[in-house]
Amino acid sequence: MDTALLFQSSHLVPGNVDKSKMFLGMDHSKVYVEHRPRYTDELFKTIADYCKETNPDLNLAVDVGCGPGTSTIGLAKYFQKVIGIDISETQIACAPKDIPNCEFKVGYSDKLPFIEAGTVDLFCCGSSFHWLPQKETLAEADRVLKPGGTIAIFGYDFPCCDIPEVEACLQSIWTRIFSFAPKEAAPALERFRGLELPYPGLIRNDEMKLQMNYTVERNIEFLRVHTLSTCLHGEAHPTPRLFGRCC
Ligand SMILES: C[S@@+](CC[C@H](N)C(=O)[O-])C[C@H]1O[C@@H](n2cnc3c(N)ncnc32)[C@H](O)[C@@H]1O
Repeated sequence: MDTALLFQSSHLVPGNVDKSKMFLGMDHSKVYVEHRPRYTDELFKTIADYCKETNPDLNLAVDVGCGPGTSTIGLAKYFQKVIGIDISETQIACAPKDIPNCEFKVGYSDKLPFIEAGTVDLFCCGSSFHWLPQKETLAEADRVLKPGGTIAIFGYDFPCCDIPEVEACLQSIWTRIFSFAPKEAAPALERFRGLELPYPGLIRNDEMKLQMNYTVERNIEFLRVHTLSTCLHGEAHPTPRLFGRCC
């Protein structure tokens, strides 16, 4: 291996982070678009098929904490209309504008006054549920969902690699980074295992994989834009301070 990641722990500033700014900033959002993993069609098809069991028309999906549309775009293939909502103006500014059945709005997951009660087939939280005010967001989901509507909550945990040396390197970096995670990140890292939802028909699927061809450089970018690296920096945009190179 001629490249390795060097972790400069002297720059860690855990606990010094304003969460309302964690996803703000054009730099953060642009790198987010380019380097966060894309979800698979298998995921969106599984969700759509589940929704269809009770509401076959798939008229409307709402994606809260949509980021720059990472979790929204794949739904557009299955739902007649999808509305992506995010509190971060820069995430929404970076969302695509050329998908006719997708609309993006700056807003709060628990306050959706522009959505009529009982009109939504799917309430989607892609890698976002752990950051949201959960009780209030679920109350808003109950208001906007049609009878028999679906709530989908998903995310991913540590990336892994099938090259053992790279895998060892990745695991040591991620383990170190996650040791500084704010408490909000824990449910996602535990794959929402402790989450109890008061709904019938609850299913979980731990089998799906996100498979990607990542170069070392891309991995560095992904680490830099990862939410937790923001916590370490205590600022909203990625900077090179956390990472270096060695031979
Ligand atoms: C980890 S990102 C996930 C983005 C995207 N859904 C994905 O799957 O990559 C979490 C997003 O939730 C947004 N967010 C955090 N709190 C929110 C709230 N109360 N209402 C709406 N969006 C929120 C953040 O701005 C951020 O873009």
